[in-house]
Amino acid sequence: MCKWWVWVLSIVFLYLLYSAITSSGNEGALLARYDIYLEKFNKSYKNNLTEYKIRFGHFVASVREIDELNALSRGSDEYRALYGLTKLSDMSKSEYKNIHLSDERILKSPEAYGKSWREAIAKLIYYRDKSRHKGQRFHDTPVYERKKRALLPLQVDWRSKGVIGPVRNQGLCGACWAFSTIGTVEAMAAIKNGKLETLSVQEAIDCAGMGNSGCAGGDICLLLDWLMLSNTPVELDKEYPLRLASGTCSVKKNGTGVRIASFTCDEFVGAEDKILQALATHGPVTVAVNALTWQNYLGGVIQYHCSGSALDLNHAVELVGYDLSAEVPYYIAKNSWGQDFGLDGYLHLAIGSNICGLANEVATVAVK
Ligand SMILES: *[C@@H]1O[C@H](CO)[C@@H](O)[C@H](O)[C@H]1NC(C)=O
Ligand SMILES: *[C@@H]1O[C@H](CO)[C@@H](O)[C@H](O)[C@H]1NC(C)=O
Ligand SMILES: *[C@@H]1O[C@H](CO)[C@@H](O)[C@H](O)[C@H]1NC(C)=O
Repeated sequence: MCKWWVWVLSIVFLYLLYSAITSSGNEGALLARYDIYLEKFNKSYKNNLTEYKIRFGHFVASVREIDELNALSRGSDEYRALYGLTKLSDMSKSEYKNIHLSDERILKSPEAYGKSWREAIAKLIYYRDKSRHKGQRFHDTPVYERKKRALLPLQVDWRSKGVIGPVRNQGLCGACWAFSTIGTVEAMAAIKNGKLETLSVQEAIDCAGMGNSGCAGGDICLLLDWLMLSNTPVELDKEYPLRLASGTCSVKKNGTGVRIASFTCDEFVGAEDKILQALATHGPVTVAVNALTWQNYLGGVIQYHCSGSALDLNHAVELVGYDLSAEVPYYIAKNSWGQDFGLDGYLHLAIGSNICGLANEVATVAVK
């Protein structure tokens, strides 16, 4: 009897000792990694114990998510998406969502407009249908056929044509809808005029009506609709500089600037060849996306674990090209989280599977 109890107790004791050692070992290793992280990204709170402790929790959650996403990521090393610590890894998911993902307000929170879910969707579709009648450029092009694939160049990169400005940083302002759309307008003006000039994102943040609300959120198609219906010129950034906060509109309606001649806004789920065609024959395009899993993106092609549902859209980016010759064909997406995020500010998104919902809302622009 006695021997039996001793035996059980010593097993229990050894188990407890073992788990205490391994969990404190884990925590110690994580703390060491955290300290290196704080140095590497020059985090100002490293001497504030309260914030140091809070953010350690977010850091550990990011490390877990990174391990999970990397374990699930497939493909050859060169092309599979790689996740790791980024400047955003010390944010909680809700902080990350609030600060970096605030686009598509109409779809996400229709109640903000005093409208029911259905009414808000109907309004968006109404705008899309209206734009359908105005922006004819792509609706009249013949349906792209698979056998004509050879006609499209295998690689398109508008950056190499000198029409894409530097990646910007939206900071704490949730105006990705303005950064991505004005970026496309800027590129289309550069293609037309042969001269790249930085256009004002702040003007869109301050002035765009029709359900757009500055740093609190907006929609790429509603911005284009407003620019076109009001015939408002997009001024130069040096005339209407970026402040990264919502403010009073001071655009000169009769002033100089780039005006929208037409635009299209479409859903191309299952028809991404249309997106390739637009990129190859027209110019960069703006798309709404779901960026929930981008917090710890380092590089590679995002192919999995990024929901494509239209209800999950929360961000917007500018597609500036694609590469069909790669082992995993991908789009080149220009983001607005600074040049020190992802691939010098860009991300690669797989072609053909509506990854991250990129084909739900696709906008092209032509300028006057
Ligand atoms: C680190 O951050 C501090 C302010 O928090 C700044 O003064 C300093 O220039 C930064 N250093 C680097 C190398 O970025
Ligand atoms: C330390 O961080 C906490 C939490 O973010 C903050 O409330 C506090 O003001 C900070 N203290 C100092 C001295 O900066
Ligand atoms: C534009 O309108 C403002 C007043 O709204 C006026 O002061 C200015 O002279 C006008 N500029 C041109 C170029 O017509």
